[in-house]
Amino acid sequence: MWMIKLLVAVQLLALALAGGSSIAIGHYQHALLSSHNSYRKKLSGDGVRSLVWDDGLSSAAGTWSLTCDYKEYDKYFGQNMYYDSEKDDLKGLVKTAVKKWNDEAEAIINPKGSCKGDCDKAQMLWDNTTSFGCSIRQCPTLNLGNGKVINEPTFLVCLYWPRLPEDTKKIYEPGKPCSKCPEDTKCVNDLCLSEELSKRLRTPPEYHRRFLRNKATLDARRLRRQLAGAGSMTDTEEYYMKSAHNTLRRRTNKQELKWSPYLSRWANYVIRCDEEYPGPRSAYTNFGKLFTSDRDKDQAAYHLVFQWGNEGYDVTRELETGCRTPNDRDTCNHNTNIMADDIENLGCAALDCLNFKQLTCIYK
Ligand SMILES: *[C@@H]1O[C@H](CO)[C@@H](O)[C@H](O)[C@H]1NC(C)=O
Repeated sequence: MWMIKLLVAVQLLALALAGGSSIAIGHYQHALLSSHNSYRKKLSGDGVRSLVWDDGLSSAAGTWSLTCDYKEYDKYFGQNMYYDSEKDDLKGLVKTAVKKWNDEAEAIINPKGSCKGDCDKAQMLWDNTTSFGCSIRQCPTLNLGNGKVINEPTFLVCLYWPRLPEDTKKIYEPGKPCSKCPEDTKCVNDLCLSEELSKRLRTPPEYHRRFLRNKATLDARRLRRQLAGAGSMTDTEEYYMKSAHNTLRRRTNKQELKWSPYLSRWANYVIRCDEEYPGPRSAYTNFGKLFTSDRDKDQAAYHLVFQWGNEGYDVTRELETGCRTPNDRDTCNHNTNIMADDIENLGCAALDCLNFKQLTCIYK
């Protein structure tokens, strides 16, 4: 038995070491998006779509980059990977990476838009690719396969949707830009932009469920769970969370919040040990960290909510953990989110991290 425990401990340690630290992708999102779209525009295809950023794909990329393994995971998303020893100029790194991917893609397509052989490497230029999301991580080591390992690289992973079908022979049709835009899109900057997709930068969990059914993604989730512990709250934690929030709200005669399994699923979906991913754009999100001994495990979340309450209405103070408001329209602190007038429901998730528990609550 102890042997098994030891093995598990060694495996967990290996995973923890593989984890590295992720870089807030938000700072590079614009550079990634504009460089991708400028290469797509250069094709002069008749119906090339404008890529939109998808936070769901970005967080899936984050889960995969956790492994610090330079290998393709599955055939479900399109995927591009890059690594470099650059640590400081990450905007430069991002541009270099996208240029390299573009050069590789261009090398396999002829002026008629057809592939010489396998189209696989040209996913980022395929006219029907609609969305993508990326993750940047500073890995302690990166496993390149065949026993090759490099130290302390910056690792970039981008995922694309929908995946290029396997039998694809053509990446685009040369023609007047936007002359064959799909029906649900309009021409913006010589590319066909889906307004519906671009409005919905954070797609709901339902939309991603079909991704999650995929085996490789499940493996990646399992990996994250192994690294971090399960994300769902216990019934007792749930009870304490709800009653702490409502005790605070009752003090100022605010309507009581109902517990929402839907928002909890959302919270479970976005929660990470080392990053603060917000919930849906129309919701408020609070992040927190719990440091617990076994004895007061359930109540730790309860105490944290009261600490949030003590933040009052001063939204200028430096907070150790963050908060978000719908569409980032306001400044916030944890308490102002809890006290928001236009919310009726809450849902939370808590994730066991190495020496603390991460908490994410979403209000809507
Ligand atoms: C993109 O999708 C449309 C509609 O399904 C299809 O007609 C077109 O051939 C696709 N583009 C390429 C290059 O395969």
